[in-house]
Amino acid sequence: MNRTFSPRDAAPVYDVEAIRRDFPILAERPYGKPLVYLDNAASAQKPRRVIERLTHFYEHEFANVHRGLHYLANASTEAFEGARESVRRFLNAESTEEIIFTRGATEGINMVASSYGLAHIDEGDEIILSLMEHHSNIVPWHFLRERKGAVIKWIEVDDDGFFSLEDFEKLITPRTKIVALTHMSNVVARPVPIAEIVKIAHAHDVPVLVDGSQGAVHLDVDVRALDVDFYVITGHKLYGPTGIGAVYGKRKWLESLPPFAGGGEMIETVTRETVTYGVPPQRFEAGTPPIAQAVGLGAALEYMENVGRGAIRAHESVLTRYAHERLSAMPGLRVYGRAMDKGPILAFNMDDAHAHDIATVIDRAGVAVRAGTHCAQPLLSHFGVSSSCRASFAMYNTLGEIDRLAEALERARALFA
Ligand SMILES: Cc1ncc(COP(=O)(O)O)c(C=O)c1O
Repeated sequence: MNRTFSPRDAAPVYDVEAIRRDFPILAERPYGKPLVYLDNAASAQKPRRVIERLTHFYEHEFANVHRGLHYLANASTEAFEGARESVRRFLNAESTEEIIFTRGATEGINMVASSYGLAHIDEGDEIILSLMEHHSNIVPWHFLRERKGAVIKWIEVDDDGFFSLEDFEKLITPRTKIVALTHMSNVVARPVPIAEIVKIAHAHDVPVLVDGSQGAVHLDVDVRALDVDFYVITGHKLYGPTGIGAVYGKRKWLESLPPFAGGGEMIETVTRETVTYGVPPQRFEAGTPPIAQAVGLGAALEYMENVGRGAIRAHESVLTRYAHERLSAMPGLRVYGRAMDKGPILAFNMDDAHAHDIATVIDRAGVAVRAGTHCAQPLLSHFGVSSSCRASFAMYNTLGEIDRLAEALERARALFA
């Protein structure tokens, strides 16, 4: 019998059931139904290794970091700085001095926009963004528009999140001061060709910030190979705790930019009349940092590396292709973004039904998806909608769960038809 090949027929990349057992929350049964957690682009669940690392840290190692002269201060500092090394390795940065801990991607982008903007952006200077940025990579630049008279120029994208490099280069002028782009949109999920963008921008002496909130979860990231100036990540999407993220910044920028926040830890000297600042990364880490959260993030990155980032990507790619196959076959369902190489994120709407209603109905079947603007209003306006549902997959999701999503959507469609 001749049947077309389905991603369902692919040989398993790894033992997904073994991975699922590492994530205790996946055994939950909302409304008495097995949990189908498909809201990973908003936040991923945590493996036991991360949870146990946090418990161990609080039970055996916790104290404030740096400058401590007692046993626990040293243990805590060692764990915290060890996490910085895990982030350095994950991004392949040259030095831990180029890794700044933040509370998340939002704070990271605000930090760069504020420090870089203070030093380098004046009235009439131009900032290039794409239409598919998350609000976290739009609003901090709007601040510079409002406060300094900067001009934001937009890269238009097509329905799959594609734009041509020629069109991008045409936006660059002698007034362009920075390009800030996502590595992967949290709606259409097409990987952005960052290395090529950076080559073009650098040929015009323009630095590039990359929002890696989604990209770092689903793509290999090598900040040296990409040659990016700033790369921002957020821990809770990388199977780590909330309240932690990091900015990679090239040494030449971190050494020359003014600090973002002021306080303890980031200074060299303070007198009545003067203040001098410490060296990076401490210059950008004012106050007590999120210590345990950083340690938890380090454990999460190590967990991902142990499973294998290539294996996770291969598994997620099968899930994505299968979800497209199932959802595309459904009449009245519109999927946003259909690039072949897209990441494991599927935004969609159903005819005659509001996204919130769909999400609420399928939640009763135990299927957790997000519905709303996904903090990407400019992109949703491009599609002519004000909200959508979004299913997003992680290393622990299964083909069977996609069947559960499709069945729940079928039942929802029958309700709203
Ligand atoms: C592409 C993108 N950028 C930035 C963010 C903001 O991340 P956080 O809320 O962790 O700061 C998100 C989170 O949804 C995102 O998907």
